[in-house]
Amino acid sequence: MTEPDLDATALRREFAEELTAERKLPADWRAAVEAVPRHECSPAFYVPNDAPGLTAYVPITRELVGAEAWLRRVYSDETLITQFDGRDIDWSDPQPISGANPTSSSTLPSLVVQMLDALDLDDESTVTEYGTGTGYSTALMCHRLGAERITSVETDAGVADRARAALDRCGYAPRLVTGNGLAGADRSDQAARTIATMGVRGIPWAWVRETAPGGLVVATLRGWLRSLGLVRLVVEDGQHATGQFIAADPAFMIARQQQAPANIGMLPGDDDGKTRETEVGPEVLNMPDSGFVAQLALPNSRSFFMPDDDGRLRVYVLDAANESFAVLTAAGAGWLVREGGPVSLWAEVEQSLALWHAAGSPAATEFGVSVEAGRQRVWLDNAEDGPSWRLPVVPGS
Ligand SMILES: C[S@@+](CC[C@H](N)C(=O)[O-])C[C@H]1O[C@@H](n2cnc3c(N)ncnc32)[C@H](O)[C@@H]1O
Repeated sequence: MTEPDLDATALRREFAEELTAERKLPADWRAAVEAVPRHECSPAFYVPNDAPGLTAYVPITRELVGAEAWLRRVYSDETLITQFDGRDIDWSDPQPISGANPTSSSTLPSLVVQMLDALDLDDESTVTEYGTGTGYSTALMCHRLGAERITSVETDAGVADRARAALDRCGYAPRLVTGNGLAGADRSDQAARTIATMGVRGIPWAWVRETAPGGLVVATLRGWLRSLGLVRLVVEDGQHATGQFIAADPAFMIARQQQAPANIGMLPGDDDGKTRETEVGPEVLNMPDSGFVAQLALPNSRSFFMPDDDGRLRVYVLDAANESFAVLTAAGAGWLVREGGPVSLWAEVEQSLALWHAAGSPAATEFGVSVEAGRQRVWLDNAEDGPSWRLPVVPGS
């Protein structure tokens, strides 16, 4: 392990102290945060640009900002982005970046330890992790449990190679698998715990199959509109996993194989569909709780806005699975919606919001999740006959 001249050990202790004071570091994970050299996992990275302007992300390396600023940045509660749009970065001459999507990172440490804590580990636990990324979360688990208990899967070969080298520098040799984690970790046994640090549209059945009965799966569900949140499921008997959302906010980059289709397809023409009034405006898509419900109602949709010829705002909702659409335009104090295709998308949103309001507008953490092979649902009140929404089933898992 190479320690930089600056005292990284002292900075890690300071960092752990800060997180603890903010109640963001569970006691069981403090020793790992103090021990694992995050700078070995992300020696060079990008962070969002604070200054106004077009540049969205700026590079941070030891050479660019100096040893102290670099290391302080590493040992702070920040996500460190290490790849955009699946392309590796030329670290010999890193440039500011805009108009690109992060595809690999070292996740916000406070979120990593929150997720690890939700795994409720004991010293004997074995873990499968999906989304090795920089290897930092893998290294934390290796420190706590021993590398022989950890398997981690990364889909991107370059990212996986760098994580292997970083983990080696940290002194850990877990089982690392390069491949599509939606199909599982190719284990010969079942892990006691499964964790994913990339977002998924539904829980891959392979994750349930490869987790021991009574074991836990901790992962983030998301759609193409937004993140749904962090779920914790108990694998019951090899046939079911059931649990609930434990946090609403966490947003992870979506699994590579589940990104929304690059092409949005044909936009509906001005005369397509039927127009009606609606009391539900498009702002429900962006508000925290109603946005969660709208995402459940629109599992295959994307949304964006454009001005029409008169400069008025038009909000489009397009379904990638069946080509249904809804187009919202302001009309006086209310909204008009024009819908077409086999599913009335906005009616789905209205009905889901009505069910949610009738239940007292509960927070995301009141929603349950049930996963079976070929069928999974998010529900309210009870799994049998409460209101429920289907999640997309991951093909081939
Ligand atoms: C947020 S990063 C992981 C953070 C990581 N745990 C860390 O601490 O550095 C998400 C990672 O998931 C990987 N990923 C995306 N889709 C995947 C898949 N289907 N199987 C395995 N890994 C995947 C991405 O390439 C990316 O490296």
